[in-house]
Amino acid sequence: PIDPNFPTNHKVIEKFKDPLSENYHLVWGPGRLAEAASDPKVIADYQAIGEEIKPIGVHGTFVAVDWDSCIADGICLMSCPTKVFEWYKNPGETGRKDRKDYTDKANPVKEADCIWCMACVEVCPTKAIKVDQL
Ligand code: SF4
Ligand code: F3S
Repeated sequence: PIDPNFPTNHKVIEKFKDPLSENYHLVWGPGRLAEAASDPKVIADYQAIGEEIKPIGVHGTFVAVDWDSCIADGICLMSCPTKVFEWYKNPGETGRKDRKDYTDKANPVKEADCIWCMACVEVCPTKAIKVDQL
């Protein structure tokens, strides 16, 4: 799950620009080790593409996704009524994938469009998302 105190426990390490819009969001790090790293399916997925499992941090501030906890389930993308999220590796795509790619992540590229319905927070299987009303 996401650390609810991530703004205190982490620092801003990057400003992420959405490749498809003028939107930016902050990235908080250093991240924690992926909880998913103990899951053999996740390990195999990373090995298949020659990537190391390393801490990656929290994307977003008011709609925040802990990328170390996100296992690319995709239900958050489907559940969001205002399409706040898109796939990090497939910008512009907001649907759930047939085959999960554990190395992809839910990217909160439209934080400002959030209407605080909390659907994403409730449905995420790893509780990777925190939403704060401004
Ligand atoms: Fe979308 Fe609702 Fe989550 Fe905001 S709280 S990002 S509107 S699903
Ligand atoms: Fe990731 Fe949870 Fe969404 S695992 S893709 S943040 S539903």
